Amino acid sequence: MDKYYLALLGEAGATGLAKGIYLVRKNERFFRAYKNELSHWEYFKQFKKSYLEKPTYYGLLILGLVVGLMEMRVIKKVVNKVESQALDFYYKNFEIKGRIAEIVEDEKHHFL
Ligand SMILES: [Fe+2]
Ligand SMILES: [Fe+2]
Repeated sequence: MDKYYLALLGEAGATGLAKGIYLVRKNERFFRAYKNELSHWEYFKQFKKSYLEKPTYYGLLILGLVVGLMEMRVIKKVVNKVESQALDFYYKNFEIKGRIAEIVEDEKHHFL
């Protein structure tokens, strides 16, 4: 599948997950992560559009709400897993420069 398409859906999902956790935890850190993920999603929207963006966002938003209700240990595990997959994805598929380098830098700050 096209890397821009995967990045678009990945960032839509990351935005939903961060928003869901933030809505439960109301923590500045999660809010910042949500704002970052939203800006990443916006960035990839200029290359591709997909009818799966909204379903992916809402699906992960619900998952984020559920994960947000769990103990911090679980939140940490889920977030760190998602972020390390995101980093692997960018390193494997993109040249790390320009906006992609900024996105990668943001993701590094999302680890808990
Ligand atoms: Fe992201
Ligand atoms: Fe992230």
